[in-house]
Amino acid sequence: MTLINENFLNLTNNYLFSDVANKVKAYKACHPSAEVISLGIGDVTQPLPLVSVDAMKQAVEEMGCPKTFRGYGPEQGYDFLIDAIIRNDYLPRGIKLKPNEVFISDGAKSDCGNIGDIFDSCNSVGMTDPVYPVYADSNMMCGRTITYLPCNIANDFVPSLPDKKLDIIYLCYPNNPTGTVLTKAELKRWVDYALLNDSLIIYDGAYEAYIQEPQIPHSIYEIDGATLCAIELRSFSKTAGFTGVRCGYTVVPEELTASTRHGERISLNHLWNRRQCTKFNGTSYITQRGAEAIYTPEGQKQVKQVIGYYMQNARLMKDSLIDMGYRVAGGENAPYLWVKIPDSVSSWQFFDRMLNEAQVVVTPGLGFGASGDGYIRLTAFGQQEDCLKAMRRMKHVKM
Ligand code: MLT
Repeated sequence: MTLINENFLNLTNNYLFSDVANKVKAYKACHPSAEVISLGIGDVTQPLPLVSVDAMKQAVEEMGCPKTFRGYGPEQGYDFLIDAIIRNDYLPRGIKLKPNEVFISDGAKSDCGNIGDIFDSCNSVGMTDPVYPVYADSNMMCGRTITYLPCNIANDFVPSLPDKKLDIIYLCYPNNPTGTVLTKAELKRWVDYALLNDSLIIYDGAYEAYIQEPQIPHSIYEIDGATLCAIELRSFSKTAGFTGVRCGYTVVPEELTASTRHGERISLNHLWNRRQCTKFNGTSYITQRGAEAIYTPEGQKQVKQVIGYYMQNARLMKDSLIDMGYRVAGGENAPYLWVKIPDSVSSWQFFDRMLNEAQVVVTPGLGFGASGDGYIRLTAFGQQEDCLKAMRRMKHVKM
């Protein structure tokens, strides 16, 4: 008899964004002529930067030629991309990484789900509520106990330090879903907590490129001591339109260790490398050439332009929502707006009404955790005219 992993039975029936997609699909099937505007899942609408398109075309040519064809690449990623990351994303902030500390992957979602492979299932885990569902679901799948740290209007969406020792803590800044950020001082409190309690922080910096205010930290390694207690994840999805191409990376510092049950300290870099070599065959050469191209001066210019476009959407939407009387967090250093909805409706009811009455897709806050009910999330990744149209339509829905 084959036994299942019963932890799966503790999950909600569907992944949040599949639930939303199914509801939208059903609505469209009944209303084929409806013009539905999606501000739901954070899928970008601007195409890949031209530099990446050109680099990928060139890479395809190489792959089609016997002299330049490449088979399996290094599981950890090609040096050309790793070097570009270290030189551009870290060195200018005073962070020195070694090439073997950066692991290229097929995206931050996979890495944040997979990283749990190297940790015992008895670790206690902490994460904010609301939270990107992958952290919660992937830990539930292996039966870890999760402590949620509520973030709401009362604490300005800044989680309090846990009142007990937690072994692994997930932090995502700029935050998905609330769009809020942590100051250096706030982030330092977490690093200090982790060092004091021998905890590990998994720091998801997927939205780092959206930070506008100069004093906001871009990497957890800007905080002293973080290389001893933190893994950092990054993504090219929202930075450079790689949602459908898939590329990200994970930094696991060499000096980062965790304990065996007998107290022996083991290098996490070694374990992650071992895990990747076994279960992952590397991100495609073509994809990595496309990602490398965004670090050229022209690439940086093109990326900044697109991010500026989305941030303008965020500003326009935030202003409209505030005019409509909503309280809105985020949207200043992140592509997400976290909107307080009237107490008279649940977040799924609000979702249904916006879909049915305004043909606008939002993400119900409850999908991100219990503290998310009473809120919805909007993304700024749409076409500008769609974002504005969505705001006009939402205005006419009276709650
Ligand atoms: C989101 O909408 O939260 C993200 O697009 C999901 C993801 O990146 O996996």
